[in-house]
Formats: sequence, structure tokens, C-alpha cells
Amino acid sequence: EMDPLRFDEKVVLVTGAGNGLGRAYALDFAERGAKVVVNDLGGSFKGVGSGSKAADKVVEEIRVKGGIAVANYDSVELGDKVVQSALDNFGRIDVVVNNAGILRDKSFARISDEDWDIIQRVHLKGSFLICRAAWPHMKKQGYGRIIMVTSSSGIFGNFGQANYSAAKLGAVGLANTLALEGIKYNIHCNAVAPLAGSRMTATIMDKETLERLKPEYVTPLVVYLSHDTCKETGGLFQVGAGYFGKLRWQRSEGVVLREKNKMLKAETVRDNWHRITDFSKFTYPSAKDPSSFTKDIDASDEMLQENINQNDPVAVSKAY
Ligand code: NAI
Repeated sequence: EMDPLRFDEKVVLVTGAGNGLGRAYALDFAERGAKVVVNDLGGSFKGVGSGSKAADKVVEEIRVKGGIAVANYDSVELGDKVVQSALDNFGRIDVVVNNAGILRDKSFARISDEDWDIIQRVHLKGSFLICRAAWPHMKKQGYGRIIMVTSSSGIFGNFGQANYSAAKLGAVGLANTLALEGIKYNIHCNAVAPLAGSRMTATIMDKETLERLKPEYVTPLVVYLSHDTCKETGGLFQVGAGYFGKLRWQRSEGVVLREKNKMLKAETVRDNWHRITDFSKFTYPSAKDPSSFTKDIDASDEMLQENINQNDPVAVSKAY
């Protein structure tokens, strides 16, 4: 290839790299010259037990191919320790892939406190703790790439995964703000929703489907987003089976129902529901302008008289 994406001298931490997608990421980064921390707690896909085998096996695979890797067996719930292992072994941390994860699928009413908490702890708090530990190092070196692993279950919902959906969309929220706060330090953060055959999905997919959904079909996106030449940040992607696509929010044109000197009532909302939810005209709201709808508001009344700054959502809301 003309211009290969190399990671020489870069230190990459992949959490949950002992199996499935994480393993595929770790192997690819290592082949591209990265020094890889293969983190894995080594428990079951439901988050029971622990062990060193899973991480050790992947480290061995990398070394056999001539790559550089070390194993770390801590849970991502101990984010500081996981990141410390990158610093102790390689002296820096450049890329973090927050991939570790488990499932506790139950129909909603049957989710116990523990089923809820462990999912939030591993997927969401784990990602937070890992990122918080890595952040000051990335900031200091003026370079960092963070991949937040989300799921279509989080973006769209999925039967039996209320706990997991909440954590996975939480990870997108975390990614959105890290992207904003990171930009001036050249720390980029993107969220990736993969689809791949793994022990996690083996229970719900037949053999043929699993074969089409190789983790290696997801890896190229994660690797590219982690490279220092990649400018993308704050993005949300779906990837799997060779498909790559980007998602964004869409907002209906909406309607201003306020009338001067009149109370605004639920009945008015009901009677205008078709206009509120009409997507024939729309915008793509973003962090640059989250309250841009206030600009669409006709300023011919009290807002102008009171000289309200329409770009200030707080002032606008007070004016109502
Ligand atoms: P997997 O079960 O094959 O791999 C997950 C790895 O994370 C395992 O090796 C496990 O030991 C490790 N792990 C679990 N808890 C940990 C902890 N507390 N600390 C450190 N390591 C821990 O699963 P798979 O499918 O490779 O999933 C990887 C990620 O991708 C997960 O975050 C998952 O939610 C996400 N995902 C996967 C999809 C798929 O189609 N496979 C779909 C959407 C999201």
C-alpha cells in the first residue's frame, strides 16, 4: 500500500482484548508497530470469574508475529491500574480503545440491581476511569485518540438489554464531551457501534452469520480513527460485515406555539403534533449550536422589545 497507517513508537491500550473484537484490534495495532497493552479480566461473558489466560494468549500471538505487547489482568473498574501498566511498561499512552464488556440480558422488569450496576460499572464507569487516567498524559503530549465502543442496542434500544442500552448510549454521551474538551489538545474521541461474531453474540447468531461478521471487518475503522493523521472527532459510526457508516441527529423544523399574553397549554401541543413531528424540513443540530432552534423563533415580539440575545438559550427561555 502507498501510505500505510503505522503506529511505531505509539502505545495502544485495548481493554477486553483477550477475546473477540478487542483481540482483533490488538493484533492489528501490533502489526502496525504499536506497543500494545492487552488488558483483559478473563471472566465469562456475563462478567463472572477472572484469569490471566485470555490476555496471555493474545500477547503470545502478537509476540510470535514479532510484535510488542504486554498483558494486564485488571478490571477496567480499576482504570488507574490499567493505564499505569501502559506507563510502567512503555512510558506513555497514546491510544485507548474502551472495548471491555459483558452482558446481563434480562427482560426489563427482571433486571436486578446487580445486573444494572455491573453493566454500568464495566461499560460506562470503566470507560470513564480509563479515560480519566489517560487524559493528563494525552494532554501533556498533545496527542491522544480514544475509541468509545457503543452498540446499536444503545443507539436504538433492544429487547432484553435495558441495562446495556443505557450504558452504551452513556458511552456516546461521554465521547461527545471528551471530543469537545479534547480538541485543543489534539485528543480525538469517536464512538463506534460494531457488529461482529464473538462469544458475546454467538448465543444469538447462527454459524453462517457469525462467519460473515468477522471482527477483522470492524478493525479497520477503529485503527484509522486511532491514527494521528485522522482528523475525525465526536463522530458516531456503525461498522460490521464490511459496512462502514456514520450517524447523526436530525431535528424537525418544529413550530413556535407561543402567543403573546396567552398561556401555552397541552391541548395546543396536541393540536399541533403533526407540525412538531414533521420532518419534511429539518436541521442537523450539533454541539456547535445545540440550541440553534432558538434562532428560528420569530423575534417580532417581546424578545425584541426586551432586547433578548436570541443566541443565549437561558435568556430566551426566561423570555417565555
Ligand atoms: P467478548 O466477550 O468476546 O470480549 C469482551 C472481552 O472483555 C472479554 O475478553 C472479557 O474477558 C473482557 N472483559 C469483560 N469485562 C472486563 C473488565 N471488567 N475488565 C477488563 N476486561 C473485561 O465480546 P465482543 O463481542 O468482542 O465485544 C467487545 C465490545 O464490543 C463490547 O464492549 C461489546 O459490548 C461491544 N459490542 C459488540 C458487538 C458484537 O456484535 N460483538 C455489538 C455491539 C457492541
